[in-house]
Amino acid sequence: MSQHDHHWSIETCLVHAGVPNRLSDVAGRATVLPIHASTTYLHPSAEALDQAFSGSTASGERTFFYARYGNPNACAFEESMAQAESGVGAVAFGSGMAAIYAALLAAGLATGTKILASRDLYGPTTELLRTVFAPIGVEVILADLCSSTTVDVVHAEQPDVILVETISNPLVKVVDLDAMSAAAQEVGAVTVVDSTFTTPYLVKPIEHGFDLVVHSATKYIGGHGDSTAGVAISAKRTLLDQLRTYAILLGAMLSPFESHLLLRGLRTLSLRVERQCQNAAQVAHFLQQHPAIACVHYPGLPNHPQHAIATRLFHRYGGLLAFELQEQSRAAAFRFMNRLQLCLPATTLGDVFSLVSYPPISSHRTLTEADRSNMGITEGCIRLSVGIEQAQDIISDLAQALE
Ligand SMILES: Cc1ncc(COP(=O)(O)O)c(C=O)c1O
Repeated sequence: MSQHDHHWSIETCLVHAGVPNRLSDVAGRATVLPIHASTTYLHPSAEALDQAFSGSTASGERTFFYARYGNPNACAFEESMAQAESGVGAVAFGSGMAAIYAALLAAGLATGTKILASRDLYGPTTELLRTVFAPIGVEVILADLCSSTTVDVVHAEQPDVILVETISNPLVKVVDLDAMSAAAQEVGAVTVVDSTFTTPYLVKPIEHGFDLVVHSATKYIGGHGDSTAGVAISAKRTLLDQLRTYAILLGAMLSPFESHLLLRGLRTLSLRVERQCQNAAQVAHFLQQHPAIACVHYPGLPNHPQHAIATRLFHRYGGLLAFELQEQSRAAAFRFMNRLQLCLPATTLGDVFSLVSYPPISSHRTLTEADRSNMGITEGCIRLSVGIEQAQDIISDLAQALE
């Protein structure tokens, strides 16, 4: 019996992510999976090797023969993610962008098809649609998919594929996953969601009707700013097979060492995210009453436009927030960032330490100012990924930088 056969909570399953089956009859097994730094794998006979090329043993267990086709560490990570997201399986990738690219291909995006995507996507994801998919004849429609007219947009556009983020970057808008998947089903669209900001601890989009879930595992899943990875989880076996094919053919698979770091990250995911959400709520309330702040974007605040949707969908409101300085200028934003002593001005999120980023020079750098303004990203907008430090220390740092 493996941990998959138990009905343990997500917290418990994550703590045991990748831990070998304790009922194995092999004596003295390591509790932590060793890092399999091997390009190829030996099998007891040519017949067994022949069988291994199909990806599984004669008894149906996953097996390995060449690193680009998979490795035991990535496999353990994939199984843990599939379980955490309630999917039929998962495929690990070398980055979040690789996972998104493969998920879109698996969803069937090809010449002559149409994708309806949120206009609030992470900048490089929008760029991927424009520079890779549009030139091969994919019709790319970007629309506000966080509004109450979302269902009408889906019905009007009749897309083949829909791509959204659970919480958008940087303005933390929330997509109604239930309404979106129901509308997608009516028009026969394959649904893909980037759940990087929420992690399976806050929401499991497959349980809300989505077909494919992707993560930049570089963020909350790794959680310590020391690994770059992506993962795509599928609700359907056919899509899973497609994901695996693209990971192999594009050479976009995840290395054993990165997989090891991610499995270690998964064990503390729920503790970290729980604390990050608590801290973010306190920071949001502090910023909201500060005279130098024009507005705060956080789904946990009752005045957030999708607060009710977030309350229905999410276990907590997340560790990400954005705020706008009263002085709407790049100079004011730079001054604020230069004064910070605790929060790191680094272009990532979801780490144990608090991180600030200025979207016009980082995540949304490649978009035009008009595109950014269309998305509501002003020159005074700062994104804060709240870490697991003591909340009052984060607040004190922000306070002194805002003085
Ligand atoms: C929401 C979201 N999706 C995808 C990505 C891309 O992930 P990666 O940098 O791991 O390729 C990012 C990176 O910041 C992101 O924020």
